[in-house]
Amino acid sequence: MSEPSIYQVYEEAERRLRERAIGYTVRHAEYRDLDSVIGINEVSLPEHYPRSFYEELLEDYGKAFYVAVSPRGEVVGYIMNRIETKPGFFKHWLVRSGHVVSIAVLSEHRGRGLGYVLMAYAMKTMYEDYKCGETYLEVRVSNKPAISLYEKLGYRVVKTERNYYLDGEDAYVMARRLP
Ligand SMILES: CC(C)(COP(=O)(O)OP(=O)(O)OC[C@H]1O[C@@H](n2cnc3c(N)ncnc32)[C@H](O)[C@@H]1OP(=O)(O)O)[C@@H](O)C(=O)NCCC(=O)NCCS
Repeated sequence: MSEPSIYQVYEEAERRLRERAIGYTVRHAEYRDLDSVIGINEVSLPEHYPRSFYEELLEDYGKAFYVAVSPRGEVVGYIMNRIETKPGFFKHWLVRSGHVVSIAVLSEHRGRGLGYVLMAYAMKTMYEDYKCGETYLEVRVSNKPAISLYEKLGYRVVKTERNYYLDGEDAYVMARRLP
């Protein structure tokens, strides 16, 4: 099965936002959002980072750092990324690759398409603004919702990293070409 283009993904994201996440918006993150972003990370994922890490990603790759905002104006989800130059998964030479560092949506706001929309916006930015030819991420092998989301977006498992997480769980590395 061939992967959907980022433009197909983006169109589908706009549809999901319109139909399933009525009143929600997705916009670029700003410094004033970082407390909320860190709070969402803390309750949603076992992997935490110092504040300086969030600040660096916002400073350096802010165009690919998005937040989802509820109809009441609360930040309820985020995605942050890093742009790297590395050997490609699909080409043997160095490529620019958009690394999805972290994504989470607060549990009460899941299942409305926000995870999909955050990913779609980030993928479009990786290609259009940062000229990435690929994108990749790591995901716990047990994280079925996230794996299903990434597959829907055209990512495929390209390798397994044994003992990747501090608690010993393996990670799938998933990647796709852009656009
Ligand atoms: C992964 C996560 C960001 C998805 O956010 P979300 O807003 O609920 O996702 P969406 O509503 O956009 O769902 C998109 C797709 O993800 C998959 N998905 C989402 N929730 C799922 C669930 N509970 N079970 C199985 N698949 C699920 C489905 O394929 C879904 O597509 P569909 O709407 O066509 O069924 C969210 O579950 C989360 O924050 N999890 C905790 C943090 C985390 O695990 N982050 C990823 C680390 S790699």
